[in-house]
Amino acid sequence: MIHSAGIITVSDRGYAGIRDDISGPELKAFIEKNGISVNYMEIIPDEHPMIKEKLKYAADELGLSLIVTTGGTGFSQRDVTPEATKAVIERDVPGIPEAMRAKSMEITPKACLSRSAAGIRGNSLIVNLPGSPKAAIENLSVVIEPIKHGLDLLRATTPTDCANTANTK
Ligand code: MTE
Repeated sequence: MIHSAGIITVSDRGYAGIRDDISGPELKAFIEKNGISVNYMEIIPDEHPMIKEKLKYAADELGLSLIVTTGGTGFSQRDVTPEATKAVIERDVPGIPEAMRAKSMEITPKACLSRSAAGIRGNSLIVNLPGSPKAAIENLSVVIEPIKHGLDLLRATTPTDCANTANTK
């Protein structure tokens, strides 16, 4: 199944033009290398209402299969991406951040500082990633294969379970 994705960079400094957005383009290249087209990219500040608004727009108006955010998952007072995400998702997918954190702990113990969330809104999957390009790609690499399978299930037009799909790895 063909899927589309959006990337939302959440960064006060990126939005203000003080810092270049490197994570967004690197995530785009990685996602496209994995066979998912990236149709939407946006840089927004660490503002709870705006994060919610853009997530809803990407899911409800654009109908994207996968929406990843990068940034705002840490401990800074302005880091509110997981809270905004939890406010718009309808079904929690805790296994995705659990897996990303567990595998990332083998790379750096600071991985446990990412408070990232993931969940489903309608037929879109939203996944939070940390802000640095290195951390964002490391985290998404852990879950990209199961995500592709999950998106096929989420978007199936007839009731489908794992046993009925080709990609059961
Ligand atoms: N995960 C991986 N795989 N690699 C990393 O370098 N950095 C961590 C963590 N997760 C990191 C990682 C650090 S230092 C922080 S503070 C948190 O992600 C949150 O990052 P954010 O505030 O940019 O979202």
